[in-house]
Amino acid sequence: MTIKVLNIVGARPNFMKVAPVYAEMKRRPNDFEPMIVHTGQHYDAAMSDSFFEDLGMPKPDVYLGVGSASHAVQTARIMIEFEPVVIREKPDWVLVVGDVNSTIACALVCSKLGIKVAHVEAGLRSRDRAMPEEINRILTDSISDLLLTTSQDADENLEQEGIRGDRVKFVGNVMIDSLLEHLKIAETSTMREYLGVEAGRYGVLTLHRPSNVDDREVFAGILEALLSIGEKLPIIFPVHPRTLGKIEEFGFAERIAASNIRLIEPLGYIDFMRLYSGAKLVLTDSGGLQEETTVLGIPCLTLRHNTERPVTIELGTNVLVGTEPEKIKEAARKILDRSEHRFEVTIPPLWDGKAAARICDELNRFGK
Ligand code: UD1
Repeated sequence: MTIKVLNIVGARPNFMKVAPVYAEMKRRPNDFEPMIVHTGQHYDAAMSDSFFEDLGMPKPDVYLGVGSASHAVQTARIMIEFEPVVIREKPDWVLVVGDVNSTIACALVCSKLGIKVAHVEAGLRSRDRAMPEEINRILTDSISDLLLTTSQDADENLEQEGIRGDRVKFVGNVMIDSLLEHLKIAETSTMREYLGVEAGRYGVLTLHRPSNVDDREVFAGILEALLSIGEKLPIIFPVHPRTLGKIEEFGFAERIAASNIRLIEPLGYIDFMRLYSGAKLVLTDSGGLQEETTVLGIPCLTLRHNTERPVTIELGTNVLVGTEPEKIKEAARKILDRSEHRFEVTIPPLWDGKAAARICDELNRFGK
């Protein structure tokens, strides 16, 4: 008897986590009948379609088309659109990943319908409840039937919250399955040539957290540091639509245009991998990039006061620098003073490219 699974994607950081799981399920047709449901939380070609192409994922079986809105409206719309899909498809499991609004919305629908939920990347905690993602993580974990974790600190977090035993399984990091699978392919991308940059001679920046870009003063402080770092190292900045809007609203566009920070469109998965894998330094407030730089040994300065991914600091290249300009500049200076652009790192346990297989094994073990 096959297990029918609805795999949920919604926002950019979901696609590279679901792709390897879906592919593994397809390789086990006697065990799994997988489908892809896209909520439409992200909908621009650059934020969504290009990832399906790069990751070799088929078009979603179901597209809910919810689009952007406030948190409440977006979450509610996903729930309203997803509920009839669950009733119609009668899955045995729904698999959600990460911490975006699509994750909690779909998990909540299933918990009320008595459909089992597996949460991939469970147990991460920033302990910062001002982050919408932290609320999504806590709530999703509390109602999921199977909690699949990327690191041992996540297991400890869940245990502290009273979630333990057979429900929690340490399977490793499925996003790294995608990274390792596409590293060679990324070498064929001409993104560096297109931008005219050479390995080790540029920095890469991503910035989109509401706490960093929605507050003018915080954003201005970060920008001051970036302009200063840019005097020594050109910075390529694929800019998230939310951030682009704020740059225009706050009147930062001219200063950036006159600087060594180069704004470009958001990149697809392969082109972006080609870009950050050659960077001397990555500056980011993303979650996933902290992990990707750790695996590749690329110095990463995280422009946040906390991280839900402490293993990237303990074993990897990540340094939390906050948002205070002097601290960011000082940390960047230390990296720029080094001659080599790779760090020795210990790859965290089970970030080995086989997490999707372990996820499928666990689902199989639980069965229908
Ligand atoms: C969402 C996730 C965040 C993740 C990020 C990755 C939540 C709560 N947040 O944040 O955890 O790190 O995705 O990108 O789920 N927009 C477009 N085109 C799109 C999508 C969004 O222009 O395809 C614009 C819209 O103006 C929208 C804004 O970006 O209002 C924010 O999008 P939204 O999905 O609400 O949150 P993100 O900031 O992308």
